[in-house]
Amino acid sequence: MIKLVRGFKDILPADTALWQHVEGVVRELLEDFGFAELRIPVLEQTELFARSIGAGTDIVEKEMYTFTDRGGASLSLRPEATASVVRAYVEHRMYAKDPVCKLYTIGPMFRRERPQRGRYRQFHQINAEIFGLHDPRTDAELILLLMTFFGRLELGSVALHINSLGCPECRPRFKDALKLFLAGRPEEFCSDCLRRKDENPLRLFDCKVPDCKEAMQEAPSILDDLCEACSTHFDDVKRSLDRFQIPYQINNRLVRGLDYYTRTTFEVLGESLGAQDAVAGGGRYDGLVKALGGPNEPGVGFAVGVDRLMELLAGRAQDFEKRPHIFVAAIGETAQDMAFEWVQGLRLQGVRTEMDFENRSLKSQMRRADKLGASYVVIVGDRELDEGVAIFRDMATKEQEQVVLQEVVGTAVDRIRTSTVGGES
Ligand code: HAM
Repeated sequence: MIKLVRGFKDILPADTALWQHVEGVVRELLEDFGFAELRIPVLEQTELFARSIGAGTDIVEKEMYTFTDRGGASLSLRPEATASVVRAYVEHRMYAKDPVCKLYTIGPMFRRERPQRGRYRQFHQINAEIFGLHDPRTDAELILLLMTFFGRLELGSVALHINSLGCPECRPRFKDALKLFLAGRPEEFCSDCLRRKDENPLRLFDCKVPDCKEAMQEAPSILDDLCEACSTHFDDVKRSLDRFQIPYQINNRLVRGLDYYTRTTFEVLGESLGAQDAVAGGGRYDGLVKALGGPNEPGVGFAVGVDRLMELLAGRAQDFEKRPHIFVAAIGETAQDMAFEWVQGLRLQGVRTEMDFENRSLKSQMRRADKLGASYVVIVGDRELDEGVAIFRDMATKEQEQVVLQEVVGTAVDRIRTSTVGGES
């Protein structure tokens, strides 16, 4: 038997109803917040990721699925979406029509990390990006959107962490302070960290080696080195969050694993997720559009890890399962032909309907209706045909009634509409 590729997974029908629900909730919310959907390819030039995420990051150095195309180009499966969204914003000159652009995209990403709980090699993200706005309220608006989304899903315990990474003016000061700190204790770090410490010392905060993590506990805080403009920006973001009573923790270790961030960064942690506890992350990236050949427009965004979100929603899949409204149990050739027409008529009117074409016994058809979780069963056999009626059985109350054959479809539609008023069933 040929099996799944390690770190990849199937999302089975028992779970897809919940995925669709989550996507439905987020699409509606994103559209209320003024976002339009952008669909981007899963494959890009490798250089796009090297230039945006950073050649010295774990993602680009170790985790991309990169191959040489038959034409000789180096291509990579996208490890994240922001780089592609920026590429599209620049390539299609979206800024020329209106520099302010709010885009969202939903889809699979690929990172060749070591698979474990909450970490897959193909995973799914919901991405939201805003271009063209400097105001710190934009950063807060995105966080508000994220927390509203989690609220609508009635997600249990999540914690919002925020930080500021400064800007090209003040970050070099922090990098110097960090280099000084690292220079004094080289023996405490792994070879990867030692290699990166001069070029990009911020990346040492991402190292997963326990000794390095421990040593970085004592590293200086970036918040001590912010310039006045970055400091004010961060205060304003916090003030907006306070205004909407969004609880947050300031986490000066939150540098995120991608090089493009400036100023605000944030993550949402799911308390029950274990080691891979970030369910969403994002931040501002004011230099990225320009670095990828566009105008000097700022950007800010986030991505939700849908697979981890699903883990937080585990056990809720059943609530969204689409069971048949009606199961038609027809016995005998004539009844089956008539039932087939009812089924088509009902489906055209949006009633989820099933029937068994195999002409099995009534008992076995009832068993199947029960297994599928149908709300009502319409029973019709030779006797009913003679009498000109079908039997309507409410599977919850077990009550039965007779309905004349010509009114079966209309009655079924009415029943379902009445029972679903005020909510999906
Ligand atoms: P990221 O923190 O690398 O950010 O990923 C965002 C989320 O994707 C994580 O919080 C996590 O939930 C999920 N995730 C990442 N890797 C995996 C994995 N291997 N398996 C399962 N889930 C995973 C970004 O990707 C940025 N592009 C976010 C962003 C958008 N920043 C600005 N705009």
